[in-house]
Amino acid sequence: MDEILFHQLFERESSTYTYIVADPVSREAVLIDPVMETVERDQQVLAENNLRLQWILETHVHADHITGAARLRAATGARIAMGRAGHVAGADRLLDDGDRIEFGCLALTVLTTPGHTGSCVSYKMVDRVFTGDALLIGGCGRTDFQEGSAERLYDSIHQKIFSLPETTLIYPSHDYEGRTHSTVGDEKRGNPRLGGGKSKAEFVEIMANLQLAPPKKIAVALPANLRCGQV
Ligand SMILES: [Fe+2]
Repeated sequence: MDEILFHQLFERESSTYTYIVADPVSREAVLIDPVMETVERDQQVLAENNLRLQWILETHVHADHITGAARLRAATGARIAMGRAGHVAGADRLLDDGDRIEFGCLALTVLTTPGHTGSCVSYKMVDRVFTGDALLIGGCGRTDFQEGSAERLYDSIHQKIFSLPETTLIYPSHDYEGRTHSTVGDEKRGNPRLGGGKSKAEFVEIMANLQLAPPKKIAVALPANLRCGQV
């Protein structure tokens, strides 16, 4: 099989990674987690690589930035899909655990990974998994709003992500230190919140004591993202 086409793109203000994955033969592509401010960049990458966008996929309802999904759909005709539990208006497809997103001869498998939010999903393909904010490199998403639950996040990560082969590559929604990816094995061993066999009780206590400020854009991002980013 020809190599899978893969682009990892970065939005600076929210430190968000947007991913484009494509089948090199059919040129059919999916795009994961677009950001409003970088939709034109995404379109340029698609055009430069002669890709036809089929699916715009969200890992969850983001609180820190407005999604570019609606704008990208209007520009490309691609369809929007996300986890069913998000109660988002205007999505073309609501995803359940085990669903497959097919494009060209490739497919992503949906893993429901709630806990950061109630509707978080991860997308698994071949050697990698796009974990959204469920599992970050050396961290995880906060669990103190949007139906967050440290107990659920612990179960999601252990049952759906740490159960994958240790060489599986982790591609998260964000990184604030310039790291691009990790592996299941590295996170199982070294993640300060979850690694080294931390118990659920230990994890819950860590998450309860984070004392994080609310995301700066939450008041505008959440209502917009509940409409696929239509503002
Ligand atoms: Fe998030």
